[in-house]
Parts: sequence; C-alpha cells; structure tokens
Amino acid sequence: MAQFFLCNKSDIPNQQALGFDIETDQGPFGLFIIRQDEQVYAYKNQCPHLGIPLNWQPNEFMSLDGVNIQCSTHGALFTLEDGHCIIGPCAGENLNHLTLEQRDDNEVWLQL
Ligand code: FES
Repeated sequence: MAQFFLCNKSDIPNQQALGFDIETDQGPFGLFIIRQDEQVYAYKNQCPHLGIPLNWQPNEFMSLDGVNIQCSTHGALFTLEDGHCIIGPCAGENLNHLTLEQRDDNEVWLQL
C-alpha cells in the first residue's frame, strides 16, 4: 500500500474542497478531498457519468450552496458523506471513495 501526504486538515476551509494530482506507480492520479467540520472525505476525481474529471477550475468541486459535490459538466450532485449521486445523468451511481488517514489529528494522508 502506498501512502501520500496531501495537506493539513487546517488547510482545508470548512465545506470546501481541494484537488490533487499525484504521481503513483500506476501513473497520474487525480483526487479531491472535502472537509465538513472535523470530517474529511476523499474521492477519485472522475465522474461516473462519462469518466472525466468533475471540475473545470482548480478546487471547484462543490455546489454553489456548499451542500453537495457537483460535476461541472452536466451538473450531477453527489452527497459529501458517501459520494452517492442524487440528481443527474448518473443518479444512483457513486464516486470512487478513497481511504484517508489522519495523523496527529491534522495531517491528511491518502492510502492507495
Ligand atoms: S460528466 Fe459528470 S454529470 Fe456528465
């Protein structure tokens, strides 16, 4: 299992996302993380509709109201907690959830 340091939790504004492009043994890998109070969620940056990245602009993964993850191409909405698509062309499908580890109650590490 590979581990990648992403950022400190305190670097993520509440109810907002940060995107990352990391280099793995299998090649480039895009992901984003979202902070909701003390929880941090991570998903592969790939919409289940067409398999393309969800964002057009850096770190823009949230709906305007900050309640859901939103795909910028066709507007699909996903829940923060489990990446489940609730509205859009991929309704019922899920984002690819990734495993995080928090160290020292602040460092956010990705496990692949
Ligand atoms: S590519 Fe995301 S909703 Fe179509």
